[in-house]
Amino acid sequence: MLCPGLHGSVAQVTLADHENPVSAGETDATFKLVHDHADRIYLWDYERSRTQLVTLYNKAMGSQWNSLTDLDWNTDVDPEGLVDQGSPSMQLFRATAAEPGSPIATWGDSEFTALGIEMFKASLSQFMHGEQGAMLTAAKIVETVPWIDAKYYAATQTMDEARHTEVFAKYLDLKVGEAYPMSPFLEEQITVLLEDSRWDIAYLGMQIVIESLALAAFGDMLRRTEEPLLRKLLRYIMSDEARHVAFGILTLKEFYAGLTDAELKDRQEFLLDNTLRNRARSTTPEVWERLGVNVGTLAPHLSVAAGKMKSSPFVGFQRGFFAKLVPNVGNNGYLRDRWGQAGLLEFEHADDTASDYDSYDEVAKDRSMNR
Ligand SMILES: [Fe+2]
Ligand SMILES: [Fe+2]
Repeated sequence: MLCPGLHGSVAQVTLADHENPVSAGETDATFKLVHDHADRIYLWDYERSRTQLVTLYNKAMGSQWNSLTDLDWNTDVDPEGLVDQGSPSMQLFRATAAEPGSPIATWGDSEFTALGIEMFKASLSQFMHGEQGAMLTAAKIVETVPWIDAKYYAATQTMDEARHTEVFAKYLDLKVGEAYPMSPFLEEQITVLLEDSRWDIAYLGMQIVIESLALAAFGDMLRRTEEPLLRKLLRYIMSDEARHVAFGILTLKEFYAGLTDAELKDRQEFLLDNTLRNRARSTTPEVWERLGVNVGTLAPHLSVAAGKMKSSPFVGFQRGFFAKLVPNVGNNGYLRDRWGQAGLLEFEHADDTASDYDSYDEVAKDRSMNR
């Protein structure tokens, strides 16, 4: 049996494989193998020399929250109530239905609500899979980073990401329904980080790119929902994510100060590739398939409708992403030029997350209110 959701160069694992780590009894198990090319580093220097990382680690220990006792899982959730009918993407889908010959021309409110629920489920599913990727990446950093303060911090992040994965999986399972598979785009983006031999690439791809993206995506969902359980778990997850981004900025700032121009150029290329590619994200085809709509037939109508709208529904979200990412990467000649061409420099002087992560700490705010 082949595992679903395997893509590209990733090893395909079958249950007949004699090196298969799944025991014979676990016939339904599905997994993916990733080969990491980085060295693990055992350190003998225990001196706490990086004070900003020490502060961040202490903060992380104090702001850990408990997924069982801090969240009320008895909250009733109406999946229809999770749909923001006025969101830019819902407006686009309604406009697509109005296009001559559109395969969804006959759709009424109930179909659009069903679509909204599936889109919501698809987003939450990508959050869940991405969080597992973050957990694996943080664990990789524990093993590969050559500084003790960074190993300690990454260990707290690994726990944070376990909690995030767990709560998204639980919310999907208890409140909304069957998850979607990981998108090939996200899967490839994370696999590349897990395979790379350079430890800093894990930081650059996860803490700087994907977690800036996650902060923007969670913030977007938070603004669009009144559901109290979802609101609280997003607020708490965002508190953690802001620290993770700060961890990336602090570490890479120090490490990159010692790299050669050629090594830095390499990292800039990586970042450019990953950030500009993010702008070209498309909607999840599985959602349409689940609703019985042929994506190939729909796509031309969708793009005509999008062309007629004043702005793309994804513009607001992407603004949120780059508003975090650009200041987080800082002033950098080569990237500055390329991002300038892409119109992204308006965010250059916004606060970076290393300086404003404390303002995200909703866990500490709730605790001080309850005291
Ligand atoms: Fe996370
Ligand atoms: Fe994170």
